Amino acid sequence: MVASNDILRRCFCERATQFLGALLAGGLGIPAIAYLLRPANTIQPGGFVDAADLSQLKLRIPEEVNFQRVRKDGWKLITEKSTAWVVKLSESEVVAYAPQCTHLGCAYHFNESKGEFVCPCHTTNFALDGRVLGGPAPRPLDRFPTKVQGSRLLIGTIESAKPVSDKKGA
Ligand code: FES
Repeated sequence: MVASNDILRRCFCERATQFLGALLAGGLGIPAIAYLLRPANTIQPGGFVDAADLSQLKLRIPEEVNFQRVRKDGWKLITEKSTAWVVKLSESEVVAYAPQCTHLGCAYHFNESKGEFVCPCHTTNFALDGRVLGGPAPRPLDRFPTKVQGSRLLIGTIESAKPVSDKKGA
């Protein structure tokens, strides 16, 4: 009788140990496998972020606007600072240009007296609508897609402008 109780106790202990081991393996293993199999998040294109208050911008006077964009890279959230040259064409129509010259990527500025964007590196001039007026830049200024919600300007991700084959002044 005593021997039989010992066997039952040993059997119970083995089963309990196996059960706890399986529970532990499942508790640790399932999340680990899910972590490894889950696809990495990459940059989400087309996301719009709040960038400016349109009521603060003057009509047809470009304004350099700074904004922040949060993107996922793998499992990390990265906050990036961005800049756009924004031109308010009317109360509901806005253009936002990427801040780099389309020649070799220098930062350009707005020359108020000329009413043009001017790149100091190799003297490309761009019109308010982004066209190349003169200089070596091969294409108009790149743009951010924009949305207007109330008085807020939302900015998407940069879209490259297409080269202009019959560019004047090049
Ligand atoms: S980088 Fe702007 S003209 Fe060359």
